Amino acid sequence: MQFFLDTANLEDIKKYASWGIVDGITTNPSLIAKEGVSLEKRIKEITKIIRGPISSEVISTDLDGMLKEGRTYAKWANNIYVKVPMTATGLQAVKIFSKESIKTNVTLVFSVGQAILAAKAGATLVSPFIGRLDDISEDGMALIADIVKIYRNYDFKTKVLVASVRHPRHVIEAAKLGADISTMPPAVLEQLVHHPLTDAGIKKFLDDWEKVKDKQ
Ligand code: E4P
Repeated sequence: MQFFLDTANLEDIKKYASWGIVDGITTNPSLIAKEGVSLEKRIKEITKIIRGPISSEVISTDLDGMLKEGRTYAKWANNIYVKVPMTATGLQAVKIFSKESIKTNVTLVFSVGQAILAAKAGATLVSPFIGRLDDISEDGMALIADIVKIYRNYDFKTKVLVASVRHPRHVIEAAKLGADISTMPPAVLEQLVHHPLTDAGIKKFLDDWEKVKDKQ
């Protein structure tokens, strides 16, 4: 399973990239706005740190605008994935991008039908937002299970990128289902590392060692 970080914060990207387990980055207009930076500048900065897929989202909602923005992003670096919202126009854009060998990430996917359409349009990645479904008392993980099963039934090449992850259990459950990628906020990656028994175990070993260290 690949781990992506869902952030546009450069310090976080540098910090967690140094752990050696960050395979890619997802951004969205809200994450870029939070950083108060230019999209182009920040995406280019990220490409200097991360070699894997980096998602940069189109802002336009019309086809010409999406194509213009996506083609521009794709020229910034060869690991840019053009993030396109799940609309009928978005599907048209994804089909055209796929013919131009521009990689895509269809975002804001909330249903199985949308995921099938994204795969049929030739999306490289599909991003079901599980946290936002859970927020409205729907079952985000059930959506992942259905998409993974259907993509395997038909050998769709589109990869399932589990998005809107809120806590480590989301990552673990998605892994059990065989989802290809989880994108997570830095806080969730941090939570995955820690366990109170690990901390207690380290403390006990060091305390015991202290008692015999002079005999070494
Ligand atoms: C994914 O690509 C999105 O940027 C992200 O996961 C959205 O998550 P949110 O629901 O926490 O905003």
